[in-house]
Amino acid sequence: TPKAEPTGPLIGFTSIPISRADTVVVPEGYTWQVVNAWGDPIMAGAPAFKIDASQSAAEQAMQSGMFHDGMHYFPLPKGSGSSTHGLIGINYEYTDDNLLTTDGMATWSAEKVQKSKNAHGLGVYEARFEGGRWRTVADSRYGRRITADTPFLIKGPAAGHALMRTTEDPTGTRVRGTFQNCANGYTPWGTYLSCEENFTAYFVNDSGSIPRLQDRYGIPTTKDGWGFRWHEHDARFDAVKHPNESNRFGWIVEFDPYDPTSEPVKHTAMGRMAHEGAALSIAKDGRVVYYMGDDDYRSKFEHIYKFVSRRPYVKGGSYADNKDILDEGTLYAGRFNADGSGEWIELTQGKNGLTAERGFASQAEVVIDARTAGDVAGATYMDRPEWIAVHPRSQEVYVTLSNNTARGTGKPLHQPNALGADAANPRAPNLMGHIVRWREAAGDAASTNFTWDVFLQAGEPTHADALKRGNVKGGVAFAQPDGCHIDQRGVLWIQTDSSAQNMAHADWKLIGNNQMVAADPSTGEVRRFLTGPVGCEVTAVQLTPDLRTMFVNIQHPGEAPLPHPGRNDPGKPKAISSWPDGEAGGRPRSATIAIRRADGGVIGT
Ligand code: FEO
Ligand code: CA
Ligand code: CA
Ligand code: CA
Repeated sequence: TPKAEPTGPLIGFTSIPISRADTVVVPEGYTWQVVNAWGDPIMAGAPAFKIDASQSAAEQAMQSGMFHDGMHYFPLPKGSGSSTHGLIGINYEYTDDNLLTTDGMATWSAEKVQKSKNAHGLGVYEARFEGGRWRTVADSRYGRRITADTPFLIKGPAAGHALMRTTEDPTGTRVRGTFQNCANGYTPWGTYLSCEENFTAYFVNDSGSIPRLQDRYGIPTTKDGWGFRWHEHDARFDAVKHPNESNRFGWIVEFDPYDPTSEPVKHTAMGRMAHEGAALSIAKDGRVVYYMGDDDYRSKFEHIYKFVSRRPYVKGGSYADNKDILDEGTLYAGRFNADGSGEWIELTQGKNGLTAERGFASQAEVVIDARTAGDVAGATYMDRPEWIAVHPRSQEVYVTLSNNTARGTGKPLHQPNALGADAANPRAPNLMGHIVRWREAAGDAASTNFTWDVFLQAGEPTHADALKRGNVKGGVAFAQPDGCHIDQRGVLWIQTDSSAQNMAHADWKLIGNNQMVAADPSTGEVRRFLTGPVGCEVTAVQLTPDLRTMFVNIQHPGEAPLPHPGRNDPGKPKAISSWPDGEAGGRPRSATIAIRRADGGVIGT
């Protein structure tokens, strides 16, 4: 529910320039501070971070994980609407294993794999504003870590299916862990949702004959995989010996941040993909609706999905009252027609070509291979759909499409035809990214028809090549939109992720470090609000109910432009970034920051 209506202009701050500085920059009149960084203690008994990264795997499991991504602010006490005391539910998307331990990946061991797993996953920390600063509450009873080994319950149509069963779990209903959690969502009943994105990175199938399902989801086929080396010490990630383990990842997961003992679950009804975000809307009859992007940075051309629950949620009810809502419902994939109309195509077994002959003998097979289901049903291939934001009043929906360097350049990995520009993905190749928005028919989030348009194309407005210029009002250069959020006043905050690549790429490096801009959805005007340190991604944004604190995550400062994302130059973290601890610290750390106005005013006005 919007807590504050607009007064005066929607966006009132002065746009800041691009930056190549190894720090966070915000507009005049604003301040920022670190609230919680990688390695900071978040649970009772957790030790303080050591900058030489000498701590054990067990210690890491009580501290903040490594690469902060999605997050949500939950007021304390629950339901209070407090803007000065709350829980942050957070994703720790992945790790740079060269930074994670003192001597990095030069030597590799089971203990290092364990520390890497313990620096992945999810967390909850308690934060309080007092004395003019946000602080992480020490020894909080809510502090929690969920790692790559924490037990999850599998629910929904795929639970127990043969494709979900493994040696370790012959029931197909229990799985250890979550990882590569990118972007997030939340529920009206006060729980946190997180999105398993590039889960394939940890598996390896070097048999020379990869099964079709593993191939469609991009399981690496070389012995070294993508450079994550868990499979060397944990046989679960050997996709030859344990072919179904990877089917147990790529889901939307849920847990209750207010109950540190609650069992986390995976909701298979919402489909399996490289999940990026779960944006909540509510249908007119109270059914719960989630919009979800499938962002695979290798295959690039994937779909946008929508889930509509079968039953309305219990308004004002607890998690216990609503815990099965996300397990029954209808999954759809989006088709964006050239005339600005669109359809949500139902991905239900027996409909829209999803037959046993096509490999879909049950709904379990539809949700496990939701990508192919979207292909068969005729969904549109989008340019790497990332976060989605729903306007709190109009329910208009905005999706960031990060980029697609392969569009128009040849044959995509998994589709038979070369895919050139289309109405919803108008640039080929698309280096800079864009934002598409849609309005559901009759203003009802459960509709199966919608109308859409391109909200903006990002770019460098003075670029000689028109394909890279974009059409942003206000002349603000930015590229690779990823994180996005519409705040309670209706400001669309857009965050960028060209990370390591921007230092090496001729076009992207023109734009400097990653950033966050504010857009007015009604006028399209854009102003630059924040620039991050060198090599970081800027991701996730949350405002407290009073709109006077904004939390943002600075992810992977110092990421190096190497072929494998997250692989820093061994032993040379200082060469790229030392944020936020400075030269004395040396080792860069992802962190949540809190932004306030010096005069305590409303952010963005
Ligand atoms: Fe982890 Fe699609 O960004
Ligand atoms: Ca990220
Ligand atoms: Ca992302
Ligand atoms: Ca991204």
